[in-house]
Amino acid sequence: MANATLTTPWQGQNYLDGRWHPVKGEYLENMNPARFEEVLGLYPRGTPLDADLAVTAARRAFPGWRRTSRIKRGELFFRLAELVRRDTDELAAVLARESGKILNEARAEVVEGLHMIEYVFGTARQPTGDVVDSEIGAKDLYVRRKPRGVVAVITPWNFPFAVPLWMLGPSLLEGNTTVFKPSEETPEIGQRLMKLFEEAGFPAGTINLLHGLGEEVGEALVRHDDVDVVCFTGSYQVGSHIRRLAAESDHKTCACEMGSKSAVIVCEDARLDLAASAAILSAFKTTGQRCVSAGRVLVHRRVLDEFSQRLVEQARRLVFADPFTPGAFAGPLVNQSAVNKVLFYNDLARQEGAKILLEGGRMTDGEQAGGYFVSPFVYQQEYGPEKRTIREEVFGPHLAIVPFADDDEAIRIYNDTPYGLSMAVITEDYRRWRLYRDECDYGMGYVNLPCIGAEVHLPFGGVKRSGNGQPSAAGLVDSVTHKISFTVNHDTQITMAQGMSADVEKQT
Ligand code: UN1
Repeated sequence: MANATLTTPWQGQNYLDGRWHPVKGEYLENMNPARFEEVLGLYPRGTPLDADLAVTAARRAFPGWRRTSRIKRGELFFRLAELVRRDTDELAAVLARESGKILNEARAEVVEGLHMIEYVFGTARQPTGDVVDSEIGAKDLYVRRKPRGVVAVITPWNFPFAVPLWMLGPSLLEGNTTVFKPSEETPEIGQRLMKLFEEAGFPAGTINLLHGLGEEVGEALVRHDDVDVVCFTGSYQVGSHIRRLAAESDHKTCACEMGSKSAVIVCEDARLDLAASAAILSAFKTTGQRCVSAGRVLVHRRVLDEFSQRLVEQARRLVFADPFTPGAFAGPLVNQSAVNKVLFYNDLARQEGAKILLEGGRMTDGEQAGGYFVSPFVYQQEYGPEKRTIREEVFGPHLAIVPFADDDEAIRIYNDTPYGLSMAVITEDYRRWRLYRDECDYGMGYVNLPCIGAEVHLPFGGVKRSGNGQPSAAGLVDSVTHKISFTVNHDTQITMAQGMSADVEKQT
């Protein structure tokens, strides 16, 4: 299968029930998106049987883990934080190489993962419930959280370190056990993370690593009857399939974070220097491959020309290069199908009558010719209900500038997509940003900032096709626990609430 040169032959293994399992059956190639020919390593093509072994191990570990003190569970995250701090540079390099994310961003992602671990450790000693008064003086009422059981964590390649931690962290802290399936594009950083969990001392079975294809092992996990929660980040198509499968069972729930057509909105009073930087960062950081990346900038007609000129001048100068190149702004796209998709939408924009402001496409010179490099494409497009390019997610350096005449129109345009993930408004007017805050459909909102760059101690999720109302990161606790109410009587006799008689002899 692997006939290209194996420069750094790391060996992928599944980690099931506290043991590493070398590749036995088929294996998959881990490729470098910046260099077509470079095979980074080989990893197992897990099977539905492996998925069953992983879930069975997690199920077996659940009672003991749930019984362990929450504070003791949290302390393992303190150790994990120390290990991530120790290995930050190495982890960033692994992440950059297989995802194509430039080194600075890869490092920022490792730091984001570290922050999640620290957050989880920090919350271990926080209260987890409420004590509530009863209408009967001798009763105490409690609200407590209980773990839901086995959590399947199915994660994307574009945030292959931080997003798994957003999900694994709260799941494990709350007493669930887990099966972690990294993306096929980024198996090595997933395995590195698993190794650190092992080194930190998480007991066998509490976290299992399963490599493989989404349609094989991912599907098997989602269908498995012993999985109680599926945490997923990825495309809308896969997420909506997961939602349907979960709905078929009586107990399974899911937290899905999916696509977006996020936007930066540049108002007539905006500082245009800040607006242009916010738009560039939102649209082209990570080569437009964040789920929160802006595919649109909505711009007030009064500042349209000046803003567009500034943006295009800056976009033209951005350096897209190998992730380890000093000064690079962003790297390649992740694979050929990502390239095809961007080129398809670039063509579609032309067909839909867009005014092209910056031509973009495959980079065919120098080292960029040897990887999935695509340069930024920027165009002006009038709003219209039939135009696909200003509504559909592209996931690449493809940016529409859409003019608007007033705030109401901007809000209407912003909301006219099937998605609702992230929104940034650029304005100096505190009345105006409040209007956008309240009228736009999104999960993460920003003022005078890019629409990327959320911090982990906030909930992260969206509405419509972007999410199912179960946010991740600090918001995940609601998905991986269920709340119980618990009532204790401190009297020697029974008194019922609501004035109901407790007399078993005669009713009054
Ligand atoms: C994603 O886009 O898939 O808010 C996650 C951000 C990052 C996380 C992005 N903290 O841009």
